Amino acid sequence: MSDPLILGIESSCDETGVGIVRGTTLLADAVASSVDEHARFGGVVPEVASRAHVEAMVPTIKRACAAAGVSLTDLDAIAVTAGPGLSGALLIGTSTAKALSTTLDIPVFAVNHLAGHVVVDELEHGPLPAAAVGLLVSGGHSSLLMVGDDVQVVTSLGATIDDAAGEAFDKIARLLDLPFPGGPWIDREALQGDPKSIDFPRGLTASRDLQERPYDFSFSGVKTAVARWIKQQQQLGNDISVPDVAASFQEAVVDVLTRKAITACKDTGIDHLVIGGGVAANSRLRALAAERCAAAGINLRIPRPQLCTDNGAMIAALGSKLMRQGAQPSPLGFPTLSVLPVSTVLMHEQG
Ligand code: KG4
Ligand code: ZN
Repeated sequence: MSDPLILGIESSCDETGVGIVRGTTLLADAVASSVDEHARFGGVVPEVASRAHVEAMVPTIKRACAAAGVSLTDLDAIAVTAGPGLSGALLIGTSTAKALSTTLDIPVFAVNHLAGHVVVDELEHGPLPAAAVGLLVSGGHSSLLMVGDDVQVVTSLGATIDDAAGEAFDKIARLLDLPFPGGPWIDREALQGDPKSIDFPRGLTASRDLQERPYDFSFSGVKTAVARWIKQQQQLGNDISVPDVAASFQEAVVDVLTRKAITACKDTGIDHLVIGGGVAANSRLRALAAERCAAAGINLRIPRPQLCTDNGAMIAALGSKLMRQGAQPSPLGFPTLSVLPVSTVLMHEQG
């Protein structure tokens, strides 16, 4: 018997994503983004995002079905992001999933967006190993996780105590007058810059921090340091090299992310590292992680950039894995949770 056909719906932030997966094979990955509508506000506006999801949802589902060459009646299950994310935005995806589940009479898996960012790598590199360390770096989260053979067992090793890595990229980009979202722009500017030109601080890496919070992150210090440095240069009347600031800031962030991820692998004895989330698209993070993992004998897995940023395929991939592992579907009355903890991979509760 072939693996079940799963349609995944993602609507936690500004991307309406619909993916279709069979087993670990990606059949369609349709994404409609409202990012341009938020750009002039310098950040995602929840009401604007919700309205855009309402408009994009049905056309994106149709586009995904056409790309996969399937119709809705071929589907075996629906997976949908139940959290974390923007409440109104999440509700558009979950009500669509509930409507499809009811009319097609198929199960629905209400899942955690963050676990999706890690499990999506199965679509690129095949089934995950029995144990892996996950480095999850997105616009709202930065965490180190342990992912077991049973995908429902995700343990948090540490997380950011202030800004998420992506948030720091976006804020520094704004200081440098780069468009929103700033991560890809910093990445691009940094290619022309010298990462050693300015020595920005590495958060939570003093020896006491490494002992007491080895797997936690802090990015507010580097953000303040960059802001102060820019102001000083302006007061001195010096020209600011955007590529040098971008490269030096980016180096400070990815240095800490990779260093702590490798420490987590060494301490847990796990020799597989999976990196996911929007910031995993960063070219310097990918290169430095590859270099350091090779030196430490750790197998590195990072999905292609398109699968790192928010999409529906990652939700379908997680639903597919849960179904293959025999997980019970969610009750139709499941709630959305904007602050869903990373350890809750699948919603079992009624709202
Ligand atoms: O996972 P994601 O698409 O959405 C959330 O779940 O938050 O992550 C979005 C974040 C944004 O902060 C964006 O600036 C950042 O990922 N990002 C990047 C790159 N591409 C996206 N950050 C650094 N370098 C990139 N190439
Ligand atoms: Zn995300």
